[in-house]
Parts: sequence; structure tokens; C-alpha cells
Amino acid sequence: MSHKKLKVGVAGLGFIGPAHIEGIRRIGDEVVGVVGITQDEARKRADELFIEKAYASYDEMIADPDIDVVHICSPNYLHYSQAVQAIKAGKHVVCEKPLTVTAEQSAELVELAKASKLACAVNYNLRYYPVNHEARAIARSGELGKIHAIHGAYLQDWLLYPTDWNWRLLTKEGGVLCAVADIGSHWMDMVMFITGLKITEVMADLGTSIPVRKRPLGEVQTFVGKLGSNEPAYEEVPVTGDDYAHLLFHFENGAKGSLVVSQVAAGRKNTLRYEVDGSQSSVAWNSERPDELWRGYRDRYNAVLTKDPSLMQPDARAVASYPGGHTEGFPDTFKQLARKVHEYIRAGDFSAEADFPTFEDGHRALVVEEAILASAKNRQWVSVSL
Ligand SMILES: NC(=O)c1ccc[n+]([C@@H]2O[C@H](COP(=O)([O-])OP(=O)(O)OC[C@H]3O[C@@H](n4cnc5c(N)ncnc54)[C@H](O)[C@@H]3O)[C@@H](O)[C@H]2O)c1
Repeated sequence: MSHKKLKVGVAGLGFIGPAHIEGIRRIGDEVVGVVGITQDEARKRADELFIEKAYASYDEMIADPDIDVVHICSPNYLHYSQAVQAIKAGKHVVCEKPLTVTAEQSAELVELAKASKLACAVNYNLRYYPVNHEARAIARSGELGKIHAIHGAYLQDWLLYPTDWNWRLLTKEGGVLCAVADIGSHWMDMVMFITGLKITEVMADLGTSIPVRKRPLGEVQTFVGKLGSNEPAYEEVPVTGDDYAHLLFHFENGAKGSLVVSQVAAGRKNTLRYEVDGSQSSVAWNSERPDELWRGYRDRYNAVLTKDPSLMQPDARAVASYPGGHTEGFPDTFKQLARKVHEYIRAGDFSAEADFPTFEDGHRALVVEEAILASAKNRQWVSVSL
């Protein structure tokens, strides 16, 4: 195991790039340079965050021999080409979700990753709330019994109004699916991670509550639109992607599932809820109470675990940095995921099984999403062929 400090380049400096930068710094690794849509943006953010290099282009960042790992935090349509370039240059990759905008692209990335001696991760960071690792340990131990139902929701309200705008709404930047790819993908990854059960069939009903939106003529960073825009000029843009969806699933053991996804649910800021029901007990989580894991029983009192490493199983303890009663939240998940990936890189055995979300997980999500699209279009159940 090397003790070398890893040097990181970050692409994309909007909402989530800085969350990666903070997480990387908290594990003691170094962000040596950043790239944004313009060098001015990169320089400004680099100065604010005391980062040495602001590259003029992604090519320039990839050509920098100082960089060991690239964190890709740019809009979805750029992930594929940026990941290909990074791998070909021998850089490890942590790519934001969705891994790509098509399953064809993600399949290619899986092959490239396999042929490389590199760590290639997808940032499904929500797994890294410690109690979600505990839920996984519970499900894997058999304490739930046979799992028959997996249900929940992922709800936000930041696209509620016709004046709410983001690049995610443009098919060519976000992909064909909008809310499902953006947040539904986190939920699907979460329940597959916890239960170990893959989604095998889907039935989807997609909704677009606002088919024509008012796009400000200036740039809008994610979530900032809720503060109101100073931009007086708009253009009307037709939108075809889903801003809400109702999904049914079949899982590989015969379990059935359902998910409501929405970015137009007034009052819901960022609510991910899941419940897994088995023949012996249930487990449930709500991201608005991130340190609590609910356990449901038929014949005895229900219980709530309040995150406490001393009470949790080893895998969950390993992703908790603070004692019980000291909340760990969204920014901590970036730190824990980066720690896992960067430790794997330092260990240097790239044939070892990865204990973080990989490009295979990212590809699976794209295949499920394409089945969801086909199901919505044809109004029928569609198999996930992987
Ligand atoms: N894991 C999570 O919880 C989470 C949360 C939010 C966003 N995301 C993902 O992160 C990615 C970015 O989303 P965001 O919300 O931060 O978007 P954003 O619009 O806030 O920021 C995007 C950034 O990318 C930059 N950019 C645009 N073109 C670029 C280029 N050619 N090269 C380099 N940088 C470029 C922009 O200048 C901006 O800094 C998306 O893929 C999104 O799905 C993940």
C-alpha cells in the first residue's frame, strides 16, 4: 500500500464539483487543478478555493503529468468523452452519474475500464450515508428474510415553475431521460446496492408537467435558479424529458418494486425514501433524517438505529467518521466515496474487487434507463437485458 498523496484534477465547478473538491481535501489528497466551461470560470473558482492550476481546456488538464485522478463533474453529455480521454491518458476516474447518456457509450467505457489498470468509479455517493451501509449489512445477513417488496420515492421541487431552468432539461446535454436519470438513478442504485438484487424488468409511466419552459438567456447553475433570476430575457423552449415518473420493477428474486420520482413536488427539497420489506422484518430510510434507520417487526416493537459506529456492522462503521449523535450528511458522502476509491488506487491491485460503485454499476443504470424509456413508449413491461 502506497502512502502517496494523490493529485487530482476536477472538471466542472458548478454545484457538485466543489463538493468533490471538499471531499478530496478532507481525505488529505490534493486538488492540483480545475477546468470549467471557460478558463475565467476555472481561474475564479481556483482562486476562491486556493487551487494552483486553472486549465484553459480539458485537454490541457489531461495532458498534465502531475494528475493521477480525474473527477468528472461536468454536464452529463460530456462524461463519455472526458472519461475516454482520461482512461487513454492513464488517469484514474471518478465520474459523476449518470455515467453517460446512452448504454452504448457506457458499455464502451466498461470495456475500456476493464482493459486498463485503473480505478473507474461512478459517484453514487448516496450509498455512503453510513446507515445505508448498515441497511446493506442487514439485508445481506438474511435478517429481513425473503425480500418481496422494495418501494419508495425520490422527490425534489426545484423544477416546479415554468421559469425553472437547467441544462438537464435539454436532451442533448442531459440525455433523453431527465428526472429518472438525474435522481431516479440514485434510488435504483441504492436499492440494488442494499439488497444485492438486480432490476430485471420495468414498467414506466413518464410525465412532463411543464412541456414549454422559459429559458433565461444567461447560464443557470443547478439549484441557484430557486433564488430567482436577475436575467430579464427568456426564450420559450419545448421540453420533452420527464420531470416526474411512476415506475414499477421486478427484481431477480421475484421481488416487486415501485418508485415515484419527481422534481416538481412542491415542498420536497431532496427527499429520498426507500423501504425494503422481507418475510421477517423491514428496513427503511428517509434522507431528510439521514442518521436514522428504521427497522419494522411484526411481533415486537419497531426500532430506530441512530447512527453510531459502535453499534453498527464493520462495513458501515468503515464509512462513518464521527461518533454517535454527530450527524454525517451529504458532503460526508463525497468524502467517504473518494476515500474508498483513492485507497483502492493506493493499494495498487487493480484486479481486486472494488468496494465502490464502478463503471459496471453506471452501465447497468443506463441499461435500466433505456428499458424504462422503451416501456414508457410502448406502454408495456420491458426486460432489462444485461
Ligand atoms: N452525485 C450527486 O449527488 C450529484 C448531485 C448533483 C449533480 N450531480 C452530477 O454532477 C454533474 C454536474 O452537475 P451540476 O449540478 O454540478 O451542474 P452545474 O450546471 O451546476 O455545473 C456544471 C459545471 O460544468 C462546467 N462545464 C460545462 N462544460 C464544460 C466543459 N466542456 N469542460 C469542463 N467543465 C464544463 C460548467 O462550467 C459548470 O461549472 C452532472 O452529471 C450531475 O448529474 C451529481
